[in-house]
Amino acid sequence: MVQALRSVKVCSDSAGLAQAAAKHFVELAGGAIALRGRFSVALSGGETPRLVYSRLAGEEGLRSVWDRIHFFWGDERCVPPDHPESNFHMACETLLDHIPVPQENIHRMHGEDPPQQAASKYEQALRAFFISPDTDRSKNNFQLFDLLLLGLGEDGHTASLFPGASALQEKDHWVVGVPHRQPPLPSVDRVTLTLPAINAAAQVTFLVGGPNKTERLKLVFNDPPPGQPSLPAQLVQPASGRLLWLVDQAAAALIQV
Ligand code: 6PG
Repeated sequence: MVQALRSVKVCSDSAGLAQAAAKHFVELAGGAIALRGRFSVALSGGETPRLVYSRLAGEEGLRSVWDRIHFFWGDERCVPPDHPESNFHMACETLLDHIPVPQENIHRMHGEDPPQQAASKYEQALRAFFISPDTDRSKNNFQLFDLLLLGLGEDGHTASLFPGASALQEKDHWVVGVPHRQPPLPSVDRVTLTLPAINAAAQVTFLVGGPNKTERLKLVFNDPPPGQPSLPAQLVQPASGRLLWLVDQAAAALIQV
């Protein structure tokens, strides 16, 4: 399996990871806004990005440009937006409730709707935002998000693309519903971007920290055993964009960098 060109930056700890991610966000936002007047970012859920989002809320370099930044999500749990399990709720708690971003710049997945209905509605919103009359989608460098943040689950999932899930085979739709399975994951229905949407980002950046990810990161960074399918995170290979792994030393303990 040919791995997409990827960069890896090892940070000292979770605080270092948050600092590096915030700096990365500010740099990308500045470049996109200077070039096209706006910056589109798809946020990840989970625990790892919390510290990053909290740090972004206080970034001096973003103080005057929040109205140019559009927030999307890579996935969402099918719960109400004010539910503690909601990725939108987590982003509000850590970032969106603390910055002057216009409501129309917040493009959340409607987790309160049935999964497939929420997925179809979100795909329409993405098409409305990213496809204009002069967009030439036939070009192989057609891109969606300027930045797409992802986490890595202990089973190698990313967004809500779980090992063995049919969503991994989706080649046309950008967003699909994910029915819940028996524990461990996912315990609730979800909505997720698919690989075609993820791999259309200009920049995909994984945020991975903690000793509980050490073994899994080693597997992701090596080819799967013969006959074994690739892990979902290994299928993230931006078509014309860049791939960066921002990891801390604990998670990176078993990989060669
Ligand atoms: C979610 C995320 C999921 C997450 C990983 C890692 O909705 O939970 O999209 O893919 O990024 O499970 O989560 P942690 O950062 O909590 O380890």
